Amino acid sequence: MSADRPTALVTGASGGIGEALARRLAADDHDHDLVLAARSADRLASLADELRRSHQIDVTVIVSDLARPGAAADLVAALGDRRIDVLVNNAGVGLYGPFLDSDPAALSGMLQLNMVSLAELTRALVPAMAARGSGRVLQVASTAAFMPGPLMAGYYATKAFVLSLSEALADEWKGSGVTVTALCPGPIATGFQAGADMGDSKLVKGKRLMTAEECAAVGVRAMNRGRVVAIPGLGNRVQALSPRFLPRRLVPGIVRRAQAPSH
Ligand SMILES: NC(=O)c1ccc[n+]([C@@H]2O[C@H](COP(=O)([O-])OP(=O)(O)OC[C@H]3O[C@@H](n4cnc5c(N)ncnc54)[C@H](OP(=O)(O)O)[C@@H]3O)[C@@H](O)[C@H]2O)c1
Repeated sequence: MSADRPTALVTGASGGIGEALARRLAADDHDHDLVLAARSADRLASLADELRRSHQIDVTVIVSDLARPGAAADLVAALGDRRIDVLVNNAGVGLYGPFLDSDPAALSGMLQLNMVSLAELTRALVPAMAARGSGRVLQVASTAAFMPGPLMAGYYATKAFVLSLSEALADEWKGSGVTVTALCPGPIATGFQAGADMGDSKLVKGKRLMTAEECAAVGVRAMNRGRVVAIPGLGNRVQALSPRFLPRRLVPGIVRRAQAPSH
């Protein structure tokens, strides 16, 4: 590990969109080393091996459960004096079903992972970027950020937090050399749907979903251009903007019907 090479930290890099983002960052810019974080040590280790071999970059693995309070601080401590130039806050989970049926511990873990750890990592790692006058932050939100989402109420609210935080920080950081981009994908073919127990939802069942690689390509391009919000796919852009043209009270019912179970 070298302390002075530019480095990108990717959370949730053991699969899905995070793995695709790590692959894309490694392929696009061989000047960057990578730090990969998630819980699955084996999957991180094999991705790290592959990226080291194929791109001759330094790849460090940090096993971290970011749903645990205090985990973001531990991750920052594990980085030591490592310089982070690109922060990709991607790790996140969903919970499908009525809010009152959700497992309380799973709900708390989701709030901690999707919002608190993301905000804490941003707060901890961006000051050094600002001091250097350059840095990129990519926050993985969702099209869910643009509307309330009955049957995934807590998840949609976490993504609204990510989008709101990112847009506000983009304004605060104008002229600092640090940019922040909220990547807002629609449904993507990853382990997310199984993890959220939403395989039966009309939103995804029987649909051809965008791939994680397509999503990551849009995200990295938008981040490199310093765009504040990136929504991959025209249909998703229309869907994300449509609540603006509807009476607010109608939107929750429309979203509930769209993601109700298909049977
Ligand atoms: N797929 C979609 O339809 C979709 C759409 C919009 C937005 N998103 C967002 O995209 C991001 C990535 O999701 P994905 O679709 O790639 O899902 P995924 O395939 O399930 O991957 C989730 C990643 O997050 C990591 N993760 C989960 N819990 C964690 C924890 N407690 N601590 C640390 N890492 C954890 C997982 O690694 P470990 O299990 O190894 O910890 C994995 O690397 C999430 O923020 C999600 O909300 C997904």
